[in-house]
Amino acid sequence: MSDHERLLALIARETDRAAVERHRDTALEMQRHVSDLFATIPGMPPDKRKAAGQAINEQKRQCEEVLAACKTWFDKQALESERSGAGFDPTIPGKRPERGSLHPITRVTRELEDLFTSMGYVVLDGPEVELDWYNFEALNIPRDHPARDMQDTFRCDPQGNVVLRTHTSPVQVRAMERMKPPFRAIVPGKVFRQETTDASHEHTFHQMEGMVVGKDLSVGHLIGAMKTLLRGVFGKEIEVRLRPGYFPFVEPGFELDARCPFCKDGCSVCKRSTWIELLPCGMVHPNVLKHGNIDPEVWSGFAFGLGLSRLVMLRYGIDDVRHLLSGDLRFLEQFA
Ligand code: FA5
Repeated sequence: MSDHERLLALIARETDRAAVERHRDTALEMQRHVSDLFATIPGMPPDKRKAAGQAINEQKRQCEEVLAACKTWFDKQALESERSGAGFDPTIPGKRPERGSLHPITRVTRELEDLFTSMGYVVLDGPEVELDWYNFEALNIPRDHPARDMQDTFRCDPQGNVVLRTHTSPVQVRAMERMKPPFRAIVPGKVFRQETTDASHEHTFHQMEGMVVGKDLSVGHLIGAMKTLLRGVFGKEIEVRLRPGYFPFVEPGFELDARCPFCKDGCSVCKRSTWIELLPCGMVHPNVLKHGNIDPEVWSGFAFGLGLSRLVMLRYGIDDVRHLLSGDLRFLEQFA
């Protein structure tokens, strides 16, 4: 039996914990030494390197075996002490596992998904890194169109062909490419704009697109859908106003604003107007239907782009949109 084998047998029979700890510490110390030895090999004469390498490898293997033997000893001891009940105090309170909770945006998104799927809508997803074509051109916003300035864009390549989507509307065109009319779809998701942030503006925020394509759809259908949406979210009628809005991909277009719940006569969230821009919408422009391979002579559609982050603010009385994605646990724990 070699010295090394004797050592392993000794550890297995050992009854003194401190002695095993000493064997373990010695093996760890040797392991560090072995690493240093490996570093000396390149400086040795070439004909000595092979033998030196083999010897050092053998030492390394022996260290590992000693460490494994020590670990087996400690594990066995732990098991035996657990079985015997020693060291177990039933009066010590158990550790309460930390429980996570759903983010308020996720909660509202899921509620809206339930509401809309119950009305026959499908839930779609789309890429956050998007082609300029879908984000702008197919939505009737060509390269030189001033409407591009309304959405400050993060561009991902020097040619500007790839962007971080500035809204969920590109999925309108992707949906039309994938689905045959008639259809109803919603698209909750994250969008990005390179803008100065304030209480109601974030650079990264959530929207939920909605799109319905069918025959003989009118503004009346659009307004009906918006009312259902707001009633479903707030569980009561809330004060809203509808005004004309301009978006190149809808005609006519509207802005639906909700009365600011944070003030009576103006605050930083509503920019002193007492209204919060929440739900732009409109009848899908024939050019957009064409880009989605849908014949505008036969089909019509309406679409809306809900400011989901702002809706979450209204719903939970959050007075600064920047809290939502701050990752601040003091904020998030309020929703646990
Ligand atoms: C759009 O993004 C259009 N795609 C919406 C649309 C869809 C119109 C379909 C017509 C038909 P707008 O830029 O207004 O529109 O943004 C939509 C909503 O997102 C706004 O009403 C607002 O509630 C929210 N929003 C806009 N910018 C920010 C921001 N920086 N931070 C938080 N919410 C924002």
